[in-house]
Amino acid sequence: MRHSKSLTTVALLALLGTTFSAYAYDADWKRGRLYYRSVCTACHTTSPIGAISPSTKTKADWSAYLLTDRHAKGKDAVSKYVGKAYRDSIKDSNKTAAKFADTPDKELMEDIKAFLLKGAKDGDAPASCN
Ligand code: HEC
Repeated sequence: MRHSKSLTTVALLALLGTTFSAYAYDADWKRGRLYYRSVCTACHTTSPIGAISPSTKTKADWSAYLLTDRHAKGKDAVSKYVGKAYRDSIKDSNKTAAKFADTPDKELMEDIKAFLLKGAKDGDAPASCN
């Protein structure tokens, strides 16, 4: 009895382990930088707003911005431009969008966040947009 109980515990722990590891994603700021510069900035430079450097905001500003997920004064969402549907729509003319065509949205968002926080005004390496 004792034996099977501990086996159950082991099995449960193993299950929990897999569940957590499936969600744990180690963000890649370099991927985020590539996407930000090639996709986000590409549009900002052609829009009236112009390029937006990560170093124009603090880490707290960026975290709040991404959490709120309201882009262009609330007209749409930041996540829209990270999403697979948007990448699909521009992949013929944008090499980076094509390169990340099959990347899960959540991972790409984490990558972009990692780059923006690293490049923030008070981040480890304040960065420009290009
Ligand atoms: C298709 C064009 C386009 C793409 C792609 C795009 N943006 Fe924007 N973005 C805009 C425009 C236009 C504005 C300015 C809106 C205004 O000021 O009226 C803007 C504004 C912003 C601002 C300033 C604050 C705000 O929301 O008004 C931030 C920050 C921003 N974008 C982040 C991003 C990030 C991060 C991505 C990529 C994941 C991205 N944008 C992709 C067009 C784009």
